[in-house]
Amino acid sequence: MNSETKNQTPPKSQRVLNSTNSIIGDLLKLAGQADIISFAGGLPSPKSFPIKEVEKATQTVLEKEGALALQYSSTVGEKPLIDQIGKYINSKGVPAQADEIQIVSGSQQALDLLGMAYIDKGSLVAVESPSYLGAIQAFDLYEPKYIEIPTDEHGLNPDLIGPEFKNIRFAYVITTFQNPTGLTLSVERRKKLAEKAREYDFWIIDDNPYGELYYDQEPPPSMRLYAPERTISLGTFSKVLAPGFRLGYVVGPKEAIAPLTQLKQAVDLNTSTFTQLITAQIMEDGLMTTHLPAVREIYKTQCEYMLKAMDQYFPKEGVTWTKPDGGMFIWVTLPESINTDELMKEAVARKVAFVPGSAFYTVGKEKYNSMRLSFVTVPPAKIEEGIKTLGELLKEKLGQ
Ligand SMILES: Cc1ncc(COP(=O)(O)O)c(C=O)c1O
Repeated sequence: MNSETKNQTPPKSQRVLNSTNSIIGDLLKLAGQADIISFAGGLPSPKSFPIKEVEKATQTVLEKEGALALQYSSTVGEKPLIDQIGKYINSKGVPAQADEIQIVSGSQQALDLLGMAYIDKGSLVAVESPSYLGAIQAFDLYEPKYIEIPTDEHGLNPDLIGPEFKNIRFAYVITTFQNPTGLTLSVERRKKLAEKAREYDFWIIDDNPYGELYYDQEPPPSMRLYAPERTISLGTFSKVLAPGFRLGYVVGPKEAIAPLTQLKQAVDLNTSTFTQLITAQIMEDGLMTTHLPAVREIYKTQCEYMLKAMDQYFPKEGVTWTKPDGGMFIWVTLPESINTDELMKEAVARKVAFVPGSAFYTVGKEKYNSMRLSFVTVPPAKIEEGIKTLGELLKEKLGQ
C-alpha cells in the first residue's frame, strides 16, 4: 500500500471494517439501472405524495409560526405533532399518553437508537426469519447474537417460542404486512405472543410502517394493545405521507422511551422542527382520513396486477407465494434446488430484478430459495412483462 492510498481516510473504526458491502448490495446496484424492470425496490409510490396539501400546510405553518418552525426544538419532539399522533393512536383503540411518545427522524433512526440503548456486544436479540434487512443492518452495528423467532405460512408462530427467549434483550417483529413476506399476524397469535412475552419476561418491538396500507379490511391493532407494559411500537410517516420528511415515532412505557431520548440528544439534537410542524398541520387538516383511501387503492391495484401476472406466468409446481392484504411486498418460495442469489444474476441479464431472500435472514442464511417482489413503483404493463420474463426463467430452471 503506498502512502497516498493509506492516507485516503483517517484510520477506520472496527465498526466500518466489520460492515462490509454484501454481494446483495452489488446486485441491487445493478437492479437500479434504467432499462431494468425492478421489483427489488422498497420505495413508496410517488403517486401517493400529497404535494398540494403539503404546500398548503407549509404556507400555514410559515405564516402562523415561522420563527418556531425554523428553530431548534426539544429532543422529544414538537407538542402539536405528539398530540396529533396520540389522538391517532387512540383512534385505533390503543392507549398512548403524550409522555410515551418520542419523535424520531424516520423509524430507521428508532432502530438505531434501540440498538444503541438496548444491545451490548453479544446480547441476544430475537428476529423473525425472514425480517427487515434495514433493522438487521441497524442492530448489527451493536454486534448482537440473533435467535430466530419461528415462523410459518401465517407469520411468526408464538406457540414455538420457548425458554430460550428468557435471556433476550427484545424480540423485533413486524406484525402487519410484514417486510419482506407481506404476512399479517392474526389476533390470536398477537395475544399468544403477549402471553409468551409475559411467561418468558421479554420485550417486544413492534415495527409498523405498513399498517395503514390495507386493501380492504383494517388489520388488527399494535402489540401495544396486547402487552402495553412490555411493547415498544414504531410508526412512520414514510408510507402515509412522504419518506422525504424523515419522520417517525416510537411509543412505549415512558421509562423505556427515556434512554432513547437521552441518546437521540447526542445523535442529532432534534428531528426537523419544520417537517414536524407541517405534519402536525396536515394531520389537523384531516389528511390522514381524506388522503389514505386513495393511497390504499393505488397499492391494492398494483398488488392485484402482480398477483394476476404471477398466476398466469409463474410455474405452479413447488412454487408458492404470499397473497398480502396490504403493504408493498409479495414473498415467493421456490424449490430448494434454486439459489436466488444465483438466479438474480440471470434475471438481471434478462432485465428483471428482485431481492434474493438470503438478504432477510440473520441466522439460517442457508435459506436461499426465496425472493421478495415489490409491485409498488412499476407500471402495470411492465409488471406483466417482468413477471413473464421471471416466470420463463423459473420454468427453464425447474424444467416445467
Ligand atoms: C419494516 C420497516 N421498518 C422501518 C423502515 C424505515 O422506514 P423510515 O425510516 O422511512 O420510517 C422500513 C422502510 O422500508 C421498513 O420496511
